[in-house]
Amino acid sequence: MFSKLKTLTVYHSDKLERKLPVSCVTDLVLLVEVPHRYFVNTYQVLLVLVWQRNSSLENSAYRIGMDMGLLYYGITVLMFALFVQTSFQLQISRSKVESLPGFQGPLPFELETGYVGVGETDDDMQVFYYFIKSENNPEKDPLMLWLTGGPGCSSFSGLAYQIGPLKFKIEEYNGSLPNLVLRPQSWTKVCSIIFVDLPLGTGFSYAKNLTAQRSDWKLVHHAHQFLRKWLIDHPEFLSNKFYMGADSYAGIPAPAIVQEISNGNEKGLQPWINLQGYLLGNPMTTRRERNEQIPFAHGMALISDELFASLQKNCKGEFVNVDSKNELCLRDIDSLDECLSEINMFYILDRYCKDDSRVQHEALWRRSLTQKLKASLSSHVTVPEISCQIYGFFLGTQWANDKSVRKALHIREGTIGEWRRCYTTDFERDIPNSFEIHVNLSTKGYRSLIYSGDHDAVIPFISTQAWIRALNYSIVDDWRAWLVDGQVGGYTRTYSNQMTFATVKGSGHTAPEYKPDEGFAMFTRWISNVPL
Ligand SMILES: *[C@@H]1O[C@H](CO)[C@@H](O)[C@H](O)[C@H]1NC(C)=O
Ligand SMILES: *[C@@H]1O[C@H](CO)[C@@H](O)[C@H](O)[C@H]1NC(C)=O
Ligand SMILES: *[C@@H]1O[C@H](CO)[C@@H](O)[C@H](O)[C@H]1NC(C)=O
Ligand SMILES: *[C@@H]1O[C@H](CO)[C@@H](O)[C@H](O)[C@H]1NC(C)=O
Repeated sequence: MFSKLKTLTVYHSDKLERKLPVSCVTDLVLLVEVPHRYFVNTYQVLLVLVWQRNSSLENSAYRIGMDMGLLYYGITVLMFALFVQTSFQLQISRSKVESLPGFQGPLPFELETGYVGVGETDDDMQVFYYFIKSENNPEKDPLMLWLTGGPGCSSFSGLAYQIGPLKFKIEEYNGSLPNLVLRPQSWTKVCSIIFVDLPLGTGFSYAKNLTAQRSDWKLVHHAHQFLRKWLIDHPEFLSNKFYMGADSYAGIPAPAIVQEISNGNEKGLQPWINLQGYLLGNPMTTRRERNEQIPFAHGMALISDELFASLQKNCKGEFVNVDSKNELCLRDIDSLDECLSEINMFYILDRYCKDDSRVQHEALWRRSLTQKLKASLSSHVTVPEISCQIYGFFLGTQWANDKSVRKALHIREGTIGEWRRCYTTDFERDIPNSFEIHVNLSTKGYRSLIYSGDHDAVIPFISTQAWIRALNYSIVDDWRAWLVDGQVGGYTRTYSNQMTFATVKGSGHTAPEYKPDEGFAMFTRWISNVPL
């Protein structure tokens, strides 16, 4: 019986008025809003039930829109609701999480986790998210979708290591579950944030055929689709100001996501998204950032004047596509790599620690097929030193692979094997750069904040300033310090395309991670539309 219902004609919400003749609008029209998997561009479909005047419940025909196909007599609304629920339950599911293993007592903020389907069939492609309601005024505060870089690092990284309300207590791992404590400078104090695991295969998101689903553009389409579906399921957030937030590699796809949302709004896609702007932290943009690593390394006194001069002369400023016959340049680059070999490129002031988790991902993955290694071994061959920033990643990996944690987060059993903080294999980089997209977005009046931890050598501030300058917008608020507790938190400048650039002084690649007070002050001011 229910399977027959699945074949019925359904109506797109925007065509409803035209298609539903007045004569069939009778006593009661029940509209059941469900996101529909068959219409990639039409996220909202209405199932329409029509009661006929004067007919008893028993005899009334349930008709669906214009089809007028006679269904079954005597189906109760309850049964229909049940159908809707069961048929679409895999499409969007969400759960409140009131406590988490490793955290003492109930969570003092609202956490929801869930899945949104972005594929053709129910269990095809499922995007996992963590949603944290603003701890201030969720009705009024903005809503932000946060995407961590990689590509393929779980947005749990943003939540637990940078801007979310929880962090790992750094203590020696002894086999028992790592502990979580509150982060006082959580951005969720002023903003509701959805942390989304994308591309598919990242974190707890999964798909039947991953290889076909991992590219920049796929990520962009999935994020856009995810967001509209999520908003259909959370209509109370439709009127909130919406911002896109991302960092690191996500500087490539995030502007494209903003552009797709914007284009979707212009095309009239439902629901309309109250898009206001975007913020990016140490974002990859041109894919040629390495060219500015050299002047950065020189400015930071990591290489000698002579080597810098020689690099400039021999490589002529081109360090990305080095001619393999240019031996002088290659020799200089070897010397450069030697100088930087024990520098933590993500934060040059921090300890340098070997991170073997990536190598181990692959090794463990292969071995686990044959030996069924326990997940608790996780993704680190050797445990990092506790004084290393990556020790937190180690703890997080132990935590996320714990059975009780997965249960608390409502992770569907058997959907993914081991949780890895980053899953970077098989990713097609099909957006060559995001500069052109910033050019496009600059004409649309969106606000943006581009911030740089100024001691990041991976995406050095010099490269970020260079592409912002190349947008050719005039300066409306010129270079000046911005302060936290009367001290310089960094420097900032705002352009006439509503783009604010800010440095976070003495911070690294993930700026709020290393300078949480400064990061929080910067975000709070910008999101409240006041000058830094
Ligand atoms: C591990 O350490 C925690 C505190 O960090 C302690 O509460 C727990 O009892 C220890 N577990 C074992 C097995 O030693
Ligand atoms: C997965 O997708 C790739 C790329 O589209 C395709 O070549 C491959 O056959 C697919 N694998 C399966 C098992 O469907
Ligand atoms: C910029 O916008 C134009 C017009 O909408 C579009 O054709 C073009 O593809 C966009 N550029 C990029 C890089 O997306
Ligand atoms: C900025 O100005 C330069 C010099 O006039 C020009 O070559 C470049 O195309 C401009 N960039 C953009 C994005 O319009």
